[in-house]
Amino acid sequence: MIARTNGRPISITGLGCHVPDRVVTNDELANYVDTNDEWIVERTGIRERRIAADDEALTDICLPAARRALELAGAEPSSIDLLIVATVTPDMAFPSSSALIADALGMPDAAAFDLSAGCTGFVYAIAQAHGMLAAGLAKKALVVGGDVLSSILDWSDRSTVVLFGDGAGAVVMEPVERGGFLGFELGADGGGGSNLWLPGSGSRRFDEPDKYVKMNGREVFRFATRVMVSSAEAILGECGKAVDDVDVYVPHQANVRIIDHAARKLGIPEEKTVVNVHKYGNTSSGSIPLALADAADDGRLEPGKLVLLTGMGAGLTWGSALIDWTHSTTGAAA
Ligand SMILES: CC(C)(COP(=O)(O)OP(=O)(O)OC[C@H]1O[C@@H](n2cnc3c(N)ncnc32)[C@H](O)[C@@H]1OP(=O)(O)O)[C@@H](O)C(=O)NCCC(=O)NCCS
Repeated sequence: MIARTNGRPISITGLGCHVPDRVVTNDELANYVDTNDEWIVERTGIRERRIAADDEALTDICLPAARRALELAGAEPSSIDLLIVATVTPDMAFPSSSALIADALGMPDAAAFDLSAGCTGFVYAIAQAHGMLAAGLAKKALVVGGDVLSSILDWSDRSTVVLFGDGAGAVVMEPVERGGFLGFELGADGGGGSNLWLPGSGSRRFDEPDKYVKMNGREVFRFATRVMVSSAEAILGECGKAVDDVDVYVPHQANVRIIDHAARKLGIPEEKTVVNVHKYGNTSSGSIPLALADAADDGRLEPGKLVLLTGMGAGLTWGSALIDWTHSTTGAAA
């Protein structure tokens, strides 16, 4: 799906994020699996990640992010009539984490649902919210992206455990005077789905059910380096923008080598590229809003800046959004 938006301008008016307190360094991981700091830094750029406590579930880390986004938007929880939570690690299959969050925050009028699109979940969710706001089905939306991937990792599998971390981010979206979202490009290829999957997690029966993430790292790397470039180029073309027009590039934070490759191929300079994978690892649906919050606090998200978001992940899925930033934001970072 690719489209430039039409109709009333819709933008992000509040932004917040949250990560668990516990920091797990590469050296600590070397206590659980046969790995070392040098390998992890060289191959991924990750130095540490946050890991949820045993009694911390998805909604526990999403709630502070959501509260911060509402506060910065100056929005009362009761004014939210649409809540989407992008995640692959809800507290439980049902009730949805979005219904639990709507209840905890006091959003009696909100339609609330979870959305599953792997690490691209946040980009899918803002596109979904945009569509409902632009169509007049909702007036003010809260979109949360977050995951507690540590709960579905095999802590004896060095190929996955070094990559991921826990975290969440949230945005308030609503109609604005000008600017806002210019377009979206979203895609999925289930044919490549088994390169990053959780085979025993649903109704499909497997001979050897597994409750942990399994990944073919090299295939995912190949896929990622391809779609991070093609998706960004597609949305820029659709919206009639050139790469040089991009002021802030916010790629999914999976691996610094994937980010560097995409930025280089696209021709986006380092100073325009937001990178925080070294401190959080890959937080799946939390990754792009966490990076946006860091960019906001660095003073990069000023009104009029052209912001490019591109994600990819399990599904396999990918997606981009282009935003003419409208609201100056600081105080959003974790
Ligand atoms: C996982 C990934 C970092 C591996 O990097 P790589 O350069 O492809 O490394 P390889 O898998 O080829 O492994 C190279 C060597 O390091 C070893 N190795 C693998 N994981 C290791 C670890 N955690 N610590 C130390 N050594 C490790 C391998 O066994 C291999 O050793 P060998 O050469 O003796 O066989 C990389 O493929 C990747 O980032 N893929 C994308 C994953 C991703 O982003 N997933 C989420 C998408 S949302």
